[in-house]
Amino acid sequence: MALVEVSRLPQHVAIIMDGNGRWAQARGKPRTAGHERGADAVRATMRAARRLGIPALTLYAFSEQNWDRPQAEVNALVDLLCECLVSERNELVDNEIRLSAIGRLHKLPQHAQSRLQKLTSETKAYEGMTLNLALSYGGREELVDAVRALANKVHADEIDPSDIDESAIAQLLPSMDVGPVDLLIRTGGEQRISNFLLWGSAYAELYFTEELWPDFDANSLYCAIEAYQGRERRFGLVPDAEDAASTTEARKELERAI
Ligand code: IPE
Ligand code: IPE
Ligand code: MG
Repeated sequence: MALVEVSRLPQHVAIIMDGNGRWAQARGKPRTAGHERGADAVRATMRAARRLGIPALTLYAFSEQNWDRPQAEVNALVDLLCECLVSERNELVDNEIRLSAIGRLHKLPQHAQSRLQKLTSETKAYEGMTLNLALSYGGREELVDAVRALANKVHADEIDPSDIDESAIAQLLPSMDVGPVDLLIRTGGEQRISNFLLWGSAYAELYFTEELWPDFDANSLYCAIEAYQGRERRFGLVPDAEDAASTTEARKELERAI
């Protein structure tokens, strides 16, 4: 049993939910069976995060690059999303969880977009936790969209190029609505970012586990948080300087403000 200090929780946990296909293949099942079990792991993780009091949880459910998987797998993933947007409604409402979504959502089929819009608007006032789904999401794509928006603002004389700073960029990144990532978890054994939250993860603590996503549960989350709480976050500063603690706090504040 992991020991989590509730007074020092990460404010934003982001998870690359990887390993569904391998989980299924190891059992002689089709990859889609792994995605179905992955949905159970999403529910368990969401409940555990909510119970702990984590304010924001971003889940990488479908990357922009995942569209190039075999059509049958893409269809199964979209169908599963649509089912979950119905089956998990009460879970979100009962626990006052606000649903939000990031990514090129317009690429999802219309029926998936409508269900997503319905549930995000129905839960938009909840303050228990934000569950942020990354769907058709890519970190580079998000940056491209933000740069284009900034270029348009310059073109329209709404902003001067010399006024472009970190905050001006972050404001145009939907993933930053829930703040920078404190703890980035990747299941499935690979140690890479795979185009996830490139900007917001600048100072995230990274946690990689061999566990495949369908096996991830509340205890796995506690273990990740315990590891996070054992890290020293320096934000580029010096650890042992007299005033390190206060400057680290100041940098953290700055990170959050961005
Ligand atoms: C993650 O599991 C789920 C999605 C990318 C949608 P994978 O489907 O990538 O599973 P592995 O990595 O092939 O085992
Ligand atoms: C990352 O996993 C995307 C999601 C978990 C949704 P992938 O399985 O697509 O990433 P790679 O191919 O291992 O980099
Ligand atoms: Mg994978």
